[in-house]
Amino acid sequence: MAGKVTFCAFVLVLLSTLAAAIRPSARSSTVARRAALENGLGRTPQMGWNSWNHFHRNINEEIIRQIADAMVDTGLAKLGYEYINIDDYWAAYDRDSQGNLAGNASTFPSGVTALADYVHGKGLKLGIYSDAGTRTCGKLMPGSLGYEDQDAKTFASWGIDYLKYDNCNNQGISPQPRYDAMSKALLNSGRNIFFSLCEWGVDDPATWAGGVGNSWRTTGDIKDTWASMTAIADKNDKWASYAGPGGWNDPDMLEVGNGGMTTEEYRSHFSLWALMKAPLLIGCDIRSMSNETKEILSNQNVIAVNQDGLGVQGHKVQQDGDQEVWAGPLTGGRFAVVLWNRGSAQASITASWWSIGLNASTVVDAHVLWTDEITSAVQGELEETVDSHACKMYVLTPK
Ligand code: GAL
Repeated sequence: MAGKVTFCAFVLVLLSTLAAAIRPSARSSTVARRAALENGLGRTPQMGWNSWNHFHRNINEEIIRQIADAMVDTGLAKLGYEYINIDDYWAAYDRDSQGNLAGNASTFPSGVTALADYVHGKGLKLGIYSDAGTRTCGKLMPGSLGYEDQDAKTFASWGIDYLKYDNCNNQGISPQPRYDAMSKALLNSGRNIFFSLCEWGVDDPATWAGGVGNSWRTTGDIKDTWASMTAIADKNDKWASYAGPGGWNDPDMLEVGNGGMTTEEYRSHFSLWALMKAPLLIGCDIRSMSNETKEILSNQNVIAVNQDGLGVQGHKVQQDGDQEVWAGPLTGGRFAVVLWNRGSAQASITASWWSIGLNASTVVDAHVLWTDEITSAVQGELEETVDSHACKMYVLTPK
C-alpha cells in the first residue's frame, strides 16, 4: 500500500514537472512583449497600496492622505511600497461641462491635483481607477470608454502615476481594443503612467496584454479567505511563463491584515505572491495594522524575491496531495523555494533538486527567509516539517 502511494506521488511529481517544462519559455514571451510596451515602468512588480480590499466604496481624501502618511511612518515606503492607489468611487457621478472627469465634491473636495501633490510630497506616487466601459463597476462614476484620450490627458495633468482599468459595462466589446485604446492614450498623455489591466482574466490577457499594460489581472476578485486565496494562486500559476520585466500576471491585491485568515495563512499568501512575482499591493488599513501584519508585509527577504532583477515568475514544481513545492530562479544562479502545506495537518515536505532545476550534486546554502537563518551545505533535497496552511520559504545559493 505504502509503495503504491509513493509511486502515485512520484507520477504526480513527474507529470507536473513535465507540464512545467513544456510551457512556452519565459524568455521568448518576454522578448515579444518588450518590443511593444514602451513606458519603461514595472521592471519589477509594482508595490504599494490600494483602497478596495479594505475600504470598498467608503473612501475620501483624508483617508488617502493618512494612508500616505502611514506608508512613510511605518517604514513600508522605504521597503519599496510606493504607489497609493485610489480604487472605484473617487469621482463625481457625471463628467463636467467639458466632458472631463472630476473628483467627487463631497469626498474629494480639494481635488485630485492637491492629493497628488500631497502624495508626491511624501516621496510616493498616486494611482487612480477607471473602467473600459461606460460606467465603473460601482456605477456611481463614469467609465472611460470613448473618452480614452481625454481621460488619459486629465490623469496626466493631475499628476497621476498609475491607472487601474476595470472591465464593467463594456458594451460587449472585446477587451483587446478597449484596453489598447487606453494604453495608447496613456503613452500619448505626456506623463509616464503605469497601466494595470483589470479584465479579470476573461480573455486570457497574459497572451496579449504584454504589449498593452504593465500588469494584467488573471482572475476574478480575491476574497479574504483561505479558499479564495489558494484557488487564485492556482489560476495565476497557469500563466507563469508570460510574466517578465515590464509586464506581470496579477492575481489581485493582498488581503494580508484584513482579518479573514490566520497569521500563517497570510504568511503563505504573501510568500506565494512574492514568489509569483505578483504586484505587492497592500489591501489593509495600514494606519492601524497589527504587529503581525506589519511583520509579514515588511519582510525584506521575501520582498527581495519579488523584486529580483531576473523577473521570472516562480511556479508549482511538485505536488503530492496537499503538499506542494513552488520554485523559481533568481539572479546569480540562486533559486527561491516555497514548501507549502495546504492540508489540515502538519506534514513533511521534500523539495528535490531536480524539480527545482538544480543538479543533484549541487551543494547550496539555504537561507530560511522567515526566520532569517542560514542552513549550510545542503545537497540533493530539502526536507522540512510544515504546519497546516503554513509555508517555509528559502533562497538557495549554490556554493
Ligand atoms: C472589480 C475589480 C475590483 C475593484 C472593483 C471596484 O471589477 O476587480 O478589484 O476594482 O471592481 O468596483
